[in-house]
Amino acid sequence: MTRKILVTSALPYANGAIHLGHLVEYIQTDIWTRFQKMRGHECWFVCADDTHGTPIMLRAEKEGVTPEQLIARVHAEHSRDFAGFHVAFDNYYTTHSDETRHYAEDIFGKLKAAGLIEVRSIEQHYDPVKQMFLPDRFIKGECPKCGAKDQYGDACESCGAAYAPTELKNPYSAVSGAQPVLKSSDHYFFKLSDPRCQEFLRRATREVCKAQPEAINKLQEWLGEPGENKLTDWDISRDAPYFGFEIPGESGKSTGKFFYVWLDAPIGYMGSFKNFCARKGLDFDEFWGKDSKAELYHFIGKDILYFHALFWPAELEHAGYRVPTSVFAHGFLTVDGAKMSKSRGTFITAESYLAQGLNPEWLRYYFAAKLNGSMEDIDLNLEDFTQRVNSDLVGKYINIASRAAGFIAKRFEGKLLHSHLNERFQAELPGIMEAAEEIAALYEARDSARALRRVMALADQVNQYVDKNQPWVLAKQEGQDAKLHEVCSLLINAFRLLTIYLKPVLPKLAQRAEEFLNVAPLHWADAGHLLPPAHLINPYEHLMQRIDPKQIEALVAANRESLEPVAAPPTPAADPQSPQRHAQHQQATEDKVQGQAEPTLQHISIDDFGKVDLRIARIADAQHVEGADKLIRLTLDLGEGGTRNVFAGIKSAYDPAQLVGRLTVMVANLAPRKMKFGLSEGMVLAASDTDGKSPGLFLLSPDSGAQPGMKVK
Ligand code: MSP
Ligand code: ZN
Repeated sequence: MTRKILVTSALPYANGAIHLGHLVEYIQTDIWTRFQKMRGHECWFVCADDTHGTPIMLRAEKEGVTPEQLIARVHAEHSRDFAGFHVAFDNYYTTHSDETRHYAEDIFGKLKAAGLIEVRSIEQHYDPVKQMFLPDRFIKGECPKCGAKDQYGDACESCGAAYAPTELKNPYSAVSGAQPVLKSSDHYFFKLSDPRCQEFLRRATREVCKAQPEAINKLQEWLGEPGENKLTDWDISRDAPYFGFEIPGESGKSTGKFFYVWLDAPIGYMGSFKNFCARKGLDFDEFWGKDSKAELYHFIGKDILYFHALFWPAELEHAGYRVPTSVFAHGFLTVDGAKMSKSRGTFITAESYLAQGLNPEWLRYYFAAKLNGSMEDIDLNLEDFTQRVNSDLVGKYINIASRAAGFIAKRFEGKLLHSHLNERFQAELPGIMEAAEEIAALYEARDSARALRRVMALADQVNQYVDKNQPWVLAKQEGQDAKLHEVCSLLINAFRLLTIYLKPVLPKLAQRAEEFLNVAPLHWADAGHLLPPAHLINPYEHLMQRIDPKQIEALVAANRESLEPVAAPPTPAADPQSPQRHAQHQQATEDKVQGQAEPTLQHISIDDFGKVDLRIARIADAQHVEGADKLIRLTLDLGEGGTRNVFAGIKSAYDPAQLVGRLTVMVANLAPRKMKFGLSEGMVLAASDTDGKSPGLFLLSPDSGAQPGMKVK
């Protein structure tokens, strides 16, 4: 029976680069949808950029572009990164679309008609300088518990305490630095406390989370015991200025209020699919209508389970749409056992991985070998990564083809055995064809770890057959032609079967294997038969390189290379899912979105500034650095202060020759830093936009007359 399946991955925020953590999700979803397609099901995979909200608005402002320009640029970058890792969406759209606006207004209108929307006045922090309400993440101050300075408005990173932003001491706006004032304003609320919602959520969300006992436990915590009413109403509006969709008022009048980003983000799943349907001639209602028989799955990270298991089904149910068949939550990525870190070079972007020339299928394989359908975190151990990919993929799987292919080409004109193939295969390599359904069941259950273990056990079995028969020995013996032909033909067939089993994980490698095998794109059902007698294969070209550990070192170095002290990614304090955090102040959930932004400004005292020793420097020499993409080695003359060796990340904008002789400004008392290429003893100052990409880099220069070594104050 052909199933109709719609699959989504969470929509990544449009204000940051895709990194290896994100890829845990997109690769996993891609493997699952490729598997379903290979099984012959009608399966669609849609996603989009999540484009709305305060952080994106402020980020665009900081870069001096409109939010529309920012999200268009990021959309192109995200699309490029996903394609680079062979994540094959059927549609990659944006939430800033007519379709998403349509469904947001539609769902809001229906919830309102059902009496589930309420307007209430609430008091919030307001930035009187910037004239905007401040999300929790944009308010900083002293922790009310331990007094630590510069803590965010929701939780203290020093002592771990969670609190409401109103409790912070000496609060200030991270946007303007001004002291926030409390101001009230009307907000729209989705009445989750309504008995209809409570009843529905108790009944239905268990169903939505049935695949994962850990998720059921979380729900249990959030919902409390029967009779307890732990869910508070959900604030779904924000005041202008905001980048998003305005909430329509009575008879089309303006309200000046906007849908909060988390209201329209999941609706973006519908928007993306609607857009796809229009292009493909598909029937949207067949997938989203109340009586839909199609299956709907959301792959998400555990940090956003609350939204997908509670808010989202409640919205859909009470607006007359179907609810998801299931949400599948996964854990977070760690690298070498720790949270990804920019200073350690383990905050690795998709772009840098590909730019270093690393094969995306290595990572796909490694993630797949670790993912088992649970919510446990998964660790990318860089040593294990190298070892595992080299031994499994190259040593076991590719080895089978490379052992056999040459003899078939040289000795048998590229043709496989003419007769008795099935018989001989069953006798020598039993169980390999028969494993197809068992492996399929493991993929279906999202346990790719076990699926791949099973495949590698089969590969071991085939390699034992290689060792037992030693085709390279047979090839040298008189009168062993028939035997050699048989052994190699069986090996090529075994390789083909393993290729089918690995294809969801390794689509490009499988495609090259199909060319080599001279067969049409392989489907799962093809595991039910072998190649036809006397099948002609193509000359073999090596299918995959080993990972050289040096490549991994270079990757880590490249992600550490930047000389600018990059703001550390904000650590989500405490457990982002703990129910207290939701109960404490209902927008605790908001730290999920705000956590993405780097607040723009923090005040420092004149004394703080005085600690920075800025000096005029003359560039005495400038050289390319072998093996570095971004760096130029500068020799800086500080007059009486001597000379300094500094590595500057300015290669994209300057030719070393044009720098020699000019004056610039340097930080002279920066702690020396050991880099891959040598010691860097300071930093030169250059202007650029936030991500250093466009429109370029501009080295500072003093007015004429300044002398090397002069202090800049
Ligand atoms: N925009 C929201 C999702 C809206 S869905 C209607 C969001 N965006 S995100 O960019 O922060 O994250 C996108 C997905 O990537 C989420 O499912 C998140 O859990 C996942 N991951 C982000 N960092 C991750 C790791 N370090 N490890 C594993 N998954 C991670 O949330
Ligand atoms: Zn504290």
